[in-house]
Amino acid sequence: MIDYKKLIAGALAPHLQGLDEEAVLGLLEYPPNPEMGDLSLPCFKLSKTLRQSPQAIADSLKEKVSHESVERVESVSGYLNVYLDKKRYAENIISEVLESGASYGSSSDGSGKTIVIDFSSPNIAKPFHIGHLRSTMIGNALYHILRFRGFDVVRINHLGDWGTQFGKLIVAYQKWGSEKAVEEEGIEELLRLYVKFHDEADSAPELEDEARGWFTRLEKGDEEAHRLWKWFVEISLKEFSKIYDLLGVSFDSYAGESFYIDKMEPVIRELKDKNLLVEDQGSQLVRLDDYNMPPALMLKKDGSSLYHTRDAAAAVYRKETYNFEKAIYVTSYAQNLHFQQLFKIMELMGYEWAKDLVHVPFGQVSLEGASLSTRKGNVVKLEDLLSQAIAKTREIIEQKNPAMENKDEVARQVGVGAIVFNDLSSNRIKDIVFSWEEALNFDGETGPYVQYTHARACSVLRKANGSDSIELPAKGFDASLLLDSAALGVARELYLFGEKVGQAADKLEPSIVSRYLVDVAQAFNRFYHECPILVDDQALRGARLALVKAVQITLRNGLKLIGLETPEKI
Ligand code: ARG
Repeated sequence: MIDYKKLIAGALAPHLQGLDEEAVLGLLEYPPNPEMGDLSLPCFKLSKTLRQSPQAIADSLKEKVSHESVERVESVSGYLNVYLDKKRYAENIISEVLESGASYGSSSDGSGKTIVIDFSSPNIAKPFHIGHLRSTMIGNALYHILRFRGFDVVRINHLGDWGTQFGKLIVAYQKWGSEKAVEEEGIEELLRLYVKFHDEADSAPELEDEARGWFTRLEKGDEEAHRLWKWFVEISLKEFSKIYDLLGVSFDSYAGESFYIDKMEPVIRELKDKNLLVEDQGSQLVRLDDYNMPPALMLKKDGSSLYHTRDAAAAVYRKETYNFEKAIYVTSYAQNLHFQQLFKIMELMGYEWAKDLVHVPFGQVSLEGASLSTRKGNVVKLEDLLSQAIAKTREIIEQKNPAMENKDEVARQVGVGAIVFNDLSSNRIKDIVFSWEEALNFDGETGPYVQYTHARACSVLRKANGSDSIELPAKGFDASLLLDSAALGVARELYLFGEKVGQAADKLEPSIVSRYLVDVAQAFNRFYHECPILVDDQALRGARLALVKAVQITLRNGLKLIGLETPEKI
């Protein structure tokens, strides 16, 4: 496809002293409305360098762009506005989408490079809550987006399957649990035991010592401790995998914290050799005062390891195993300090790749009125949230389209989509308050709205074909019939897809894709309401259908990137 920005930048750069094509490219903007052109150069940004008024610059450049793709150029109040040839523009974009199909918007920028993403990473024996959902969905979207950009992406679930909480759980299980209850209730029962431990330990602090004792035994390889631990892990994994199936998420590695048991010792030794480890009242830590951070604890008094110890071992292991270009960690911003410390430690150890470790933090999720603290036990379980979303969607479908064949399947796709999209629709760093009304609104800026718009495009194509096929009935179209503002508005949006995916990949920000999809859906719905598609005039009908098909392809590609399914009938 013609890269218009590049084309214009290439034509202008030779006339702008001291600026290369790349620099001009960075200055070009898409004007807020088409009356101001398709691309625009704000010349006031150049007036200092060129020592000329913005208007003089714009005037001098006006005659410099002549190309068959450019209809005219205007100089208005210091802006150089470029108007593209509409017919060529529409034809170029739509043919490109139709020809590329499932790969429209992709690129090979990342080919030959590996990116490792550590995401989801729930804690064993604690329920999977909506905080983990955000990590799961952001990580999954980044996986699809980066792959679409050509990278090899490795998905790692750094399960929280090691740590003092297992000591607590073992103590609680032995005192108040039963095999039968754990087998029957699964994580629910493990959570009950965990909460009970904390309740009891409030008045009987010696329980904490007992728990620490058990964790130490576990780390030393005690058979009974190991047997119980393994069982708790299996029970939890079974439930997590149900959720991953529902969400359509999978992993390339489940190497969790316990995977590093035998890989921590060498790291500790290395820290010692490099004089980074200091003893402090029996425990071992890395001082980070010089970097305005509290020390990072690496070994407790009793010699047991910590979250940091395992993460240090994991980073080294991942570099050795995957030779990554970048290693990404997706967690809540509550862990900002942890990762700043970790990355600094890797740097102090002398690893030049420490600069390639990237924390991708996100804001907290709250559900009106509910708390997410595990210790208190009143957490919002993701499974409940998802099943409610599916049930509510099922009701909406029942009202909207009672004749639909596979209601359950569609309710699952749209219900889950609503939750996922809601998590990905604002900048990841923002805290979000979850609201049912907002997430499930078929007319708002939601997952269901975009999925529904995609299904609407499919439905038009089916009607045109008189069958269940959503292929384009005829090849070839006359782009000169797509010059009205609604149709061009759609084409303009479609053109931006690749650029948006690129931005989302660079900023590791899936919301750029989600918001873009809402823009495409809105542009399409305007076109759909203003321009009848299945008209008698065969040429007009063919041209409009080509645009519908291009929209359907783009929406489907985009929805897949953020992990949503794309039912053809809703
Ligand atoms: N299990 C942790 C939690 O639930 C997240 C782990 C993130 N990954 C890591 N390598 N530290 O908070």
